[in-house]
Amino acid sequence: MPWNPGTYHKFQNERFLPFEDVCSFLEVRDRLSVIDLGCGTGELTEMLADRLPGSIVLGVDSSPEMLEKAQKQVRPGLRFELGTIETVTGAWDVVFSHAAIHWVANHRELIPKLVGLVKPGGQLAVQLPSNQNHPAHLLIGEIAQEEPFQTALGGWLRVSPVLNLGEYAELLYQSVGNNFTVFEKVYPHILKDADAIADWTSGTTLVPYFERLPQALHEAFQERYRSRLRRMWPDTPVFYGFRRTIFVASKP
Ligand SMILES: C[S@@+](CC[C@H](N)C(=O)[O-])C[C@H]1O[C@@H](n2cnc3c(N)ncnc32)[C@H](O)[C@@H]1O
Repeated sequence: MPWNPGTYHKFQNERFLPFEDVCSFLEVRDRLSVIDLGCGTGELTEMLADRLPGSIVLGVDSSPEMLEKAQKQVRPGLRFELGTIETVTGAWDVVFSHAAIHWVANHRELIPKLVGLVKPGGQLAVQLPSNQNHPAHLLIGEIAQEEPFQTALGGWLRVSPVLNLGEYAELLYQSVGNNFTVFEKVYPHILKDADAIADWTSGTTLVPYFERLPQALHEAFQERYRSRLRRMWPDTPVFYGFRRTIFVASKP
């Protein structure tokens, strides 16, 4: 995927709070082996390593562009590798993932697989956006079904793999019994105006659409999106409530 580190970083501060929330469930022990799945540019991987003194931390991401930026965080005990969440192997004390597994299909298969990577006594700790039904996100799918975009995309539409809380709870129960927490939280973001929502999604939700649309249609898509967003949120500032799901499971 053509992830753009610059666009993604525009809203970096807003991403720290969910990171703190998921980290608050981590059990700090000495010399943990840790993997961060979908580590992106690695700043949060570094913060994770800082929280777990003596740990050996590996960040994995499928984007060479994001990983190139991550290299500047490399230090003893912290390294990064190109790879995919779906194909990671090994046994880890902490399997961590922040804002990444919503890009991976079939969570009914994925979640037991991720639990399978955790050593006995270890933890799986995940945060994933569950904002797919927000009107600003649904609008992207609507525009993708309008011309000229529908033809250019060959009718392709992104279907979110994100499950509901009860489904994650059920999957975790099957893997670790009662030893888990799962919840959803709405993070309030106050954005300057409706265009700022488009700026936000252009670094995330729009990425797979732009990957498939010819370059010549990117600006037209963005412009139609911005103009609809302005109609939906004519006042400023704009309240953008962003839902995120967090789950942490401890393996007996
Ligand atoms: C929204 S960014 C999150 C980055 C970082 N964890 C953070 O919270 O700042 C999502 C990252 O997941 C990566 N990604 C998406 N699908 C992936 C996959 N199947 N395997 C590995 N990485 C993936 C992308 O390249 C991107 O860097």
